[in-house]
Amino acid sequence: MKLNILVLPGDGIGPEVTREAVRVLEHVAKKWNHELVLSEGLLGGIAIHQTGGPFPDDTREKALAADATLLGAVGLPEFDELPPSQRPEKGLLGIRKALDVFANLRPVIAFDSLIDSSPLKNDIVRGADLLIVRELTGGLYFGQPRGIDVQDGEETAVNSMVYRASEVERVLRMAFKLAQGRRKKVTSVDKANVLENSQMWRRIAARVGKDYPDVELEHILVDNCAMQLILRPTSFDVVVTENLFGDILSDEASVLAGSIGMLPSASIGDPLPSGAWRGLYEPVHGSAPDIAGQNKANPLAAIGSAAAMLNYSFGLHAEAAAIEAAMQAVLASGNVTADLKPKGAPATTEQVGQAVCAAIG
Ligand code: IPM
Ligand code: MN
Repeated sequence: MKLNILVLPGDGIGPEVTREAVRVLEHVAKKWNHELVLSEGLLGGIAIHQTGGPFPDDTREKALAADATLLGAVGLPEFDELPPSQRPEKGLLGIRKALDVFANLRPVIAFDSLIDSSPLKNDIVRGADLLIVRELTGGLYFGQPRGIDVQDGEETAVNSMVYRASEVERVLRMAFKLAQGRRKKVTSVDKANVLENSQMWRRIAARVGKDYPDVELEHILVDNCAMQLILRPTSFDVVVTENLFGDILSDEASVLAGSIGMLPSASIGDPLPSGAWRGLYEPVHGSAPDIAGQNKANPLAAIGSAAAMLNYSFGLHAEAAAIEAAMQAVLASGNVTADLKPKGAPATTEQVGQAVCAAIG
């Protein structure tokens, strides 16, 4: 099979973790005889430096032409004082929107071998295996009006949480379908006791849920969800929520997995007319500029994102499963980066990538 992949290394630790994900993809392509066609592009701070903007046209065109895009991370502290419209993150939001990848799938698994890496009690975390489905192209991140101006003589900031019913429905359907292939439970997260937006969300969730009678539907308020994720993480299967709530809850849930360096993600939309799924695959973690260029970032979130790409965009399930099994073997060997608090000397980013390849065989 021909795998046409755009790689956007981005900023901070992005280049070093994507390098390892590409190493694993190259290894898999060789072993299973796939033709890997890689192109590279600019996104985020590096794109601002080289082209003047965070999401150059060249990157947009390459992403639309590729079967799938692998992204490192974006964001650099030097842009911290700038308004959102001029920041590296704007490039990330731009590519998500351009590809119309409205569902961001963030699996959170507490692997047995990492149970001591989590600060939570073993008995609480053991067996946790949930999938956060975060709406990715709407809500507060994109709603208009937005901005800062002067109203009644005072500086006033406005953001808008805007959802059309169809946007809510499509991501909920995705969540129910994914739950059918798992433990058949959907937790829909909202703030329906305060927000009209959430009242509509909850109503649509209840209606859509009727089409999936084999799936149990639970509604939960987002503040309570934040607490229950830590109190009873094993009771969750698929957790579906709007963009900002999903952003926050997924960082929180990463504590169950031992480190945010473990969390991959797949952003997908509807299949193209050709039947292909043109996804965007990126680790949940950020660009971590404090450890960038030091060969110590955990590449497993990026490698896991590459596995998700093989699964969702290419239907190469055996290859994806081989990567995931190899990742587990590496975790069990204890040959892991510093974020996972290994007993011995921490492995480097590169060593983890090489170990995953070796474990694939
Ligand atoms: C994430 C990140 C991004 C987001 C930032 C970098 C814009 O935190 O993917 O979770 O908020 O979506
Ligand atoms: Mn985030």
